[in-house]
Amino acid sequence: MIKKVLVVGAGQMGAGIAQVCAQAGLEVFLHDQKEEAVQKGLQSIGKLLSRAVEKGRMTTEEKTTTQNRLTPSTSLQDAANCDLVIEAVVEKMEVKKAVFQELDGITPQHAILATNTSSLAITEIAATTKRPDQVIGMHFMNPVPVMKLVEIIRGLQTSDETFKEIEELAKVLGKVPVSVEDYPGFVSNRILMPMINEAIFTVYEGVATVEDVDTSMKLGMNHPMGPLTLADFIGLDTCLYIMEVLHEGFADSKYRPCPLLKQYVQAGWLGKKTGRGFYQYE
Ligand code: CAA
Ligand code: NAD
Repeated sequence: MIKKVLVVGAGQMGAGIAQVCAQAGLEVFLHDQKEEAVQKGLQSIGKLLSRAVEKGRMTTEEKTTTQNRLTPSTSLQDAANCDLVIEAVVEKMEVKKAVFQELDGITPQHAILATNTSSLAITEIAATTKRPDQVIGMHFMNPVPVMKLVEIIRGLQTSDETFKEIEELAKVLGKVPVSVEDYPGFVSNRILMPMINEAIFTVYEGVATVEDVDTSMKLGMNHPMGPLTLADFIGLDTCLYIMEVLHEGFADSKYRPCPLLKQYVQAGWLGKKTGRGFYQYE
């Protein structure tokens, strides 16, 4: 039974994951290496819960109970009594491996270590631990409180038991799980990211403006957001890292990241989270 969870990385995904876990009745540590990220994450959860109260989806008491289930954390030692860790740090293999190695030495033997990676190999992350059968991908979509899908990705070593527990948990969180094999970008980002990258190429090549590319896909294809708005929303750093994983993983030039995407990331224009990407957010 999964009752206590630590979420590593209190960015937009970590905060959302912590929120849905707390709403489902789990005790949650929200951890980040930066204290201010934890505080920002808790504040954003507070705002979303207040909105749910305003909209009549939740009572004030339920909001308070949910918030009381959330504990801020800046020490990974807080994972010592947890049944599950969900990692949502930056999309870099070396960073994730270091986090998993540390967690492997802290968490109880029965604990499952899950990663919210968008594209990286679960098999490789699992191999850095002494419990590779208890390592799994649990890929939530952004914004986590709204989006129903969770991709569940088994590494080569993941046990059936681990898979079943995480599949069950996804349902308890009100999500719809799909089972996906461990290939670069899994299913969702293998399909979504090349579209976003192509949208960036159309701007880079001067085919259309940022606004007109987005309008084409919103009004022409009924997408809720244009691809460049979506890229800003996801984070341009994350988009670039995913394209790099696809490019390297499939060794196919069709996944070449657009030079304009690289340049924006070099400039620190990472999208909504830094106030500037394809659009300005001040
Ligand atoms: N967090 C939590 N809730 C949010 C939110 C956020 N960031 N943004 C919007 N919402 C909620 C709003 O509160 C609102 O609910 P209520 O009014 O009932 O409170 C509801 O969502 C609708 O919001 P809006 O009316 O303001 O705006 P919208 O109709 O455009 O919906 C959206 C917003 C759901 C984000 C919609 O634009 C959408 O579906 N966009 C595409 C999202 C998408 O493609 N996500 C996948 C990204 S890729 C990914 O996640 C994988 C990866 O690895 C990169
Ligand atoms: P983000 O940049 O908003 O947040 C990342 C957080 O991780 C930051 O607060 C950072 O301080 C923290 N962090 C970095 N290294 C750390 C470490 N060693 N220990 C503790 N905390 C650390 O990123 P995000 O958008 O929330 O993405 C996080 C993960 O979720 C990535 O793997 C990403 O690919 C994946 N993901 C992102 C989206 C999306 O739409 N943004 C969707 C699904 C999955």
